[in-house]
Amino acid sequence: MSCLLVIGSQWGDEGKGKIVDYLSSKADLVARFQGGANAGHTVVVNGTQFILHQIPAGIIFPRPECVIGNGVVIDPIGFVQEQESLNSQGIKTQGRIKLSGKAHLLLPYHKALDREREAAKGKSKIGTTGRGIGPAYEDKIGRSGVRVMDFNQPDTLRLKVIENTELKNKILRAMGSSVSLNGEEIAAEILTYRDLFLELETDVSLYLDQKLAEGKKLLLEGAQGLMLDVDHGTYPYVTSSNTSIGGALAGLGIGPRMINSVLGVVKAYTTRVGNGPLPTELLGPEGERLRELGAEYGATTGRPRRCGWFDAVVTRYSKRINGLTDLAITKLDVLDSLDELKICNAYRWRGNTFTDFPCNPSILEECEPVYETLPGWKSETSDLKDFDSLPKAAQNYLDRISEIMQCAIKLVSVGVQRDQIINCGIEEF
Ligand code: GDP
Ligand code: IMO
Ligand code: MG
Repeated sequence: MSCLLVIGSQWGDEGKGKIVDYLSSKADLVARFQGGANAGHTVVVNGTQFILHQIPAGIIFPRPECVIGNGVVIDPIGFVQEQESLNSQGIKTQGRIKLSGKAHLLLPYHKALDREREAAKGKSKIGTTGRGIGPAYEDKIGRSGVRVMDFNQPDTLRLKVIENTELKNKILRAMGSSVSLNGEEIAAEILTYRDLFLELETDVSLYLDQKLAEGKKLLLEGAQGLMLDVDHGTYPYVTSSNTSIGGALAGLGIGPRMINSVLGVVKAYTTRVGNGPLPTELLGPEGERLRELGAEYGATTGRPRRCGWFDAVVTRYSKRINGLTDLAITKLDVLDSLDELKICNAYRWRGNTFTDFPCNPSILEECEPVYETLPGWKSETSDLKDFDSLPKAAQNYLDRISEIMQCAIKLVSVGVQRDQIINCGIEEF
């Protein structure tokens, strides 16, 4: 039995796609368990860029089977487009994807509601990706959602979609929106994909259990990051799923003892896209410099990401909540040209010092990061292949992160390409 969970440990976009792709050369199965097309996971192979939204990043290597669990909200139209786009880039998807029958469908009325609500919120908007994620999970929790397994009863599916659309139209009208959707048309479009989705439909929990019993290697691919978790993140500026380890268990139907190790993906600095607190944010030219050096623009929406120094209060929190066993540090190369680097190891608030992440959002909004400063290395790391060949100052920076987090660094990513990675002894799971 062998199962490795790869999980975002900041505000998403840590480079999970790249890490999952790298590890999936050894995987039999790669599974997504939560989120939806709000995710944008980038993989670059021989200069070709792939951006995965709903299909696991394991699809780029030819071997792994890709599994989408019940915890994912699946946009069927986007899914078909993503599959076609991968096929046109030479990636075979046919026969390689399994989708839980219990996964909920994300439909056009979810996207419309997401966008109209954000527009109505004005300045206090969350800054969502506009992919309909919140409204789709609301329907799931509100027990009115449409599931993949409903394709088995097309008439019932049609009626559910029509009923839901009418309700959403009422909400949109009450909000003063001019948007109005046609449930018959939505149902008709969705039903054109019926055969395709029935072919993918799988009892994922049972399937994974069987595969693990056969000794297959399973990689679990988290989306977003701990600070966007609906329970543990910076609520309400979060996404609508559990991005943390609990989401993996519930979103696939596996038990906790199935997971052998938990690899936290951590960017060598901090970024966030969308609104909400970001204690180590650099608002001036330093932040802009990090954004340009790291090409920090959203993979899903193209929005500029907010950038700041490494926040160890956040990453330690991720270690606690997720039970991280190892770390993958990404984008070290982005820091190559900096004179010095800062690591936030505590927050100061009204005379108090917090080394543990405070749950109270008003503390987060007002707190001041307490920094320690480390020297930069001022040399290129992108071509380096082992830890010992990294400049001493870069080794010190990584060692300090590992020490603060009390967690071993097993991978260091030093560029966008698949092979720009230093393997510091990650076990073949
Ligand atoms: P994900 O959502 O966690 O998969 O991350 P994204 O794909 O949204 O964002 C990460 C971005 O950083 C992508 O553009 C990657 O190609 C890029 N990237 C990943 N690892 C590295 C790295 O080590 N160095 C550099 N310079 N870029 C990286
Ligand atoms: P990956 O998997 C970064 C952010 C949005 C917004 C908040 C809620 O690529 O790391 P949503 O559309 O989910 O309702 O938006 O969450 N967000 C992400 N930020 N990476 C992501 O995914 C994200 N998915 C959602 O910007 O702040
Ligand atoms: Mg992303």
